[in-house]
Amino acid sequence: MNREDFPLLKNDIIYFDNSATSLKPKCVIDKMNDYYSNYSANAHRGDYDLSFKVDQEYENTREIVKNYINAEYLEEIIFTSGTTESLNMIASGFFGNLLEAGDEILITTSEHASNILPWFRLANKLGVKVNYIPLDDNYYVTLDNIKKMVKANTKLISLAGITNVIGDLRPIKEITKFAHQNNIFVVVDAAQMIPHEKVDVKDLDVDFLAFSGHKICGPTGIGVLYGKLELLEHLEPINLGGGMNESFDSPEQTYLKPLPTRLEAGTQNIAGVIGLGEAIKYIDKIGIEKIKQYEHELRKYLIDKLLKIKHIDIINLESDSGIVAFNVNNIFSQDVAYYLNKYNICVRAGNHCAKILKSSVGVTNTVRVSLYFYNTYEEIDNLIELLSDYDKILREMI
Ligand code: ALA
Repeated sequence: MNREDFPLLKNDIIYFDNSATSLKPKCVIDKMNDYYSNYSANAHRGDYDLSFKVDQEYENTREIVKNYINAEYLEEIIFTSGTTESLNMIASGFFGNLLEAGDEILITTSEHASNILPWFRLANKLGVKVNYIPLDDNYYVTLDNIKKMVKANTKLISLAGITNVIGDLRPIKEITKFAHQNNIFVVVDAAQMIPHEKVDVKDLDVDFLAFSGHKICGPTGIGVLYGKLELLEHLEPINLGGGMNESFDSPEQTYLKPLPTRLEAGTQNIAGVIGLGEAIKYIDKIGIEKIKQYEHELRKYLIDKLLKIKHIDIINLESDSGIVAFNVNNIFSQDVAYYLNKYNICVRAGNHCAKILKSSVGVTNTVRVSLYFYNTYEEIDNLIELLSDYDKILREMI
């Protein structure tokens, strides 16, 4: 679908590493080039036309993001460098000031490092407990398992919307409903969700949500922190500096600007913000439901073919996204990736930053194919042909 929009696909490349980062369509590249070529002034600082144009484009993206995720207020959309920064800001700037020793944070073993390490830091710093919601036989999170885990001291559930190895879609709406009945906050790492699923923060009723631009056809180095306004008001800025202060004369007389500027200190990734707006417009024009439908068909096609190869063991037979993790018998995953690379096929191999998933799945490393809407059935046929020949893999993997 829409392959002609992606300059990189003009090369002889089969790109199956979309969970790591997506490719960028020409309209996003052009939009950023236009900024750098024609109006590359700073934002929110200039009293001249070029700068006004920057402000307009920058704030226009805020509006695009707000509408795309159905936030209530523009002030709920904060630009960050990506999901990692957003989650760290939420953990340190909000929960770091709220939680106390003995409070519990629930996560799962299939979270990405970015949704584990910021909570581990609070565990070490404040003495809060980080515990794990058990996964079912398909490595899914169920509301029943959450209910079994929740105790009086549980203050927060922080989950990926879709995980980056298993690819399971979590029942976020049911989780927030139950959590809020029990005065528990819900944070969603939407890095893998935003490119493939409709995200409606009002409908999901999440307290905070984080995502990156680069996985949804946008630039690297740009992301979003969404938070309900009344909660964001209490999020202490990690970064203090230019642009976000109203005035300062002394430590006692320092006054910060209101949201969202208060949380966007320093010169921002302006080209990234502008590129993100274009990327979301691009995805919205294709339609997320159409993208999702096509990916599901592609995934089924891939799984059906992989199942016929005896020397392949699929880790996530059940999944709701275009992520398929597998291993080739007795061959290290990175050797498989290296072999495929010889045929210009890009996959990711290793633990994919989900380093404690092994305690649930029993496997440390996998080969991961992650699909997006510009992948094709023919590309999958190429992959399958190469994976079918075990002797060839053995011969050529190094
Ligand atoms: N989080 C990205 C991945 O899963 C980098 O590959």
